[in-house]
Amino acid sequence: MAVRTVEVSAPATIANLGPGYDLIGMALDTPRDFLRVSLVKSGTDEIEVEGIGGETISAGPDQNSSMVAARAVLRRAGVTGYGLRMLLKKGVPPRMGMGSSGASSAAGAFAANILLDNPLGETEVLECAMEGERAACGSAHADNVAPSLLGGITAILCYDPIRVMKLRPLGGVEVVETTPELEIAQEKTKLAREVLPPSVTLATVVSQMSSFALLLLGIMKNDPKIAGEGISGDQIVEPARAKLIPGFFEVKKAALKAGAYGCSISGAGPSVFAIVPQGRGIKVGERMVDQFSAAGVKSKFSLHRISEEGAKVV
Ligand code: HSE
Repeated sequence: MAVRTVEVSAPATIANLGPGYDLIGMALDTPRDFLRVSLVKSGTDEIEVEGIGGETISAGPDQNSSMVAARAVLRRAGVTGYGLRMLLKKGVPPRMGMGSSGASSAAGAFAANILLDNPLGETEVLECAMEGERAACGSAHADNVAPSLLGGITAILCYDPIRVMKLRPLGGVEVVETTPELEIAQEKTKLAREVLPPSVTLATVVSQMSSFALLLLGIMKNDPKIAGEGISGDQIVEPARAKLIPGFFEVKKAALKAGAYGCSISGAGPSVFAIVPQGRGIKVGERMVDQFSAAGVKSKFSLHRISEEGAKVV
């Protein structure tokens, strides 16, 4: 019998924003994952997954990111002897680069903390959500879970111990997310991390730091032109992952030519995102889709806003 039940949702996110690999991410207004969680008087955990791509998500309690994140909260709060029953309704498509596992992890940790009357602070909940991310893709990076949990744009200032800063979303912009129809491996993020170079030259580091500075400065000054320059300037991750996305550089060039402030790979890909002036999204999206077509790849685009809203009770 359920002791308590809560239903929450957590948003899709775009991580990295070009040069901010594993450090910067932003929450989108749509889509969101929905999670209903009950705390029950029995030791077993059960989860049912439905919605977009739900059939591809593990429902094993030790592998499912919502469950792993929620369990981490119970463990940290010292709660034993209770089971969790979950219904996860996927709204964020898995393996597209929109922070799907991050949204499910954030929802799991957030919901569990509420069920227990909020024994953990924001940072501890974040650390638990990171465990969900680790279960999903083998790495406990926080650049999806942090914005999904907290909303807005978040910057990880330090991983050990974890420190996060929430920044105000860029105003007056739309986000274009263009998703190519490619065959995508189940372990997509893990594979996309394995293609990254183990080391880079000092000259590359200098160039990357300049792009990162532009990105941060642009966000903090609410200047999308400067932020966009930073987004487009990734010299490390984007060139390595572009090989996994046919036509990427032409798509990026077309987005910038059509008026985007900045364009890069969305999270670990394969979607490509662009930050564009308000009202320009359709034009930029159409040009991006045209360029994917020219590379022999079908694609579709969607328009979003950067959202202040992170995980919330529904
Ligand atoms: N920072 C992560 C990556 C985001 O690029 O691998 C995707 O989970």
